[in-house]
Amino acid sequence: MMTIRELIESGTKKLEAARIGEAQTHCEFIAAFVLNKSRTYVRAFGQNIVYDKERAMFDDILKEKLAGRPLAHITGSAEFMGRIFDISQTVLIPRPETEELVEQAIKKISVPPRSVLDICTGSGCIAISLAFLFKSAKIVSADISKEALKVALRNAQNLNIANRIEFIESDMFDKLGGTFDFIISNPPYIPEEIISTLSPEVQCEPHIALCGGKDGLSVIKRLISSAPKYLNPGGLLALEIGCAQAEKVVKFFKDVKWQKPQIGKDISGTDRFVFARRK
Ligand SMILES: C[S@@+](CC[C@H](N)C(=O)[O-])C[C@H]1O[C@@H](n2cnc3c(N)ncnc32)[C@H](O)[C@@H]1O
Repeated sequence: MMTIRELIESGTKKLEAARIGEAQTHCEFIAAFVLNKSRTYVRAFGQNIVYDKERAMFDDILKEKLAGRPLAHITGSAEFMGRIFDISQTVLIPRPETEELVEQAIKKISVPPRSVLDICTGSGCIAISLAFLFKSAKIVSADISKEALKVALRNAQNLNIANRIEFIESDMFDKLGGTFDFIISNPPYIPEEIISTLSPEVQCEPHIALCGGKDGLSVIKRLISSAPKYLNPGGLLALEIGCAQAEKVVKFFKDVKWQKPQIGKDISGTDRFVFARRK
């Protein structure tokens, strides 16, 4: 017989021994998934007993985690800005930095936008979160990947917000029309040759969601050069970028239509976001 707390503690030790970061958090998520409860529940009711079947399931998931499979792929879901999103191997697993991108961007918006474009939408986590925040805005969610868009649509349906969002398969702006008050994107920005050096977990994610070409900047550069045509005067572009890319990215805002871009830092103090307003 084992309690939830003992189960989490034993799993945490195994993950720590394998030098997997945030071991306890991962184990709390696994326990919550296995018990079909929230993470808050497993923390609050650690004294409750787990059945052998649940323990066996916990151990199986832990083995997959130890083998380098992302938890979001094992459970098929991930949390973003307080909501649960379906995740498959066709989309990037939403990251905490991207939550910061959304939070910092909305602080820069004084008048609610009438139209929002989330370009490179993946699971739809940004577009959907913004649809909940800006209740009267028209939201467009675009991605080059048909498979990613299917996941984004499913997420919008699960969260009962699909009627507020238009999903468009498009290579950058190719299939997009009209203009927007706010364009936001977490584009692929990892340099191609770095990808094979990243953790096995990251390498489970779609190449197209990670790879920003030779220098990591090819998608960002295209985005910045086309965006003025799709932004309304005074409209905001908010981008997530890779660490050490800020200086180069800022130089892409050559068009006279841009006001001076601003760099934003993530919680670890890394330059991670660029915000620019169209004149
Ligand atoms: C880093 S992921 C971001 C996913 C999601 N927005 C998030 O933050 O979790 C980048 C996404 O860009 C898409 N993508 C890559 N190249 C693209 C292109 N040329 N045009 C549109 N989307 C593209 C990928 O399919 C992927 O879904």
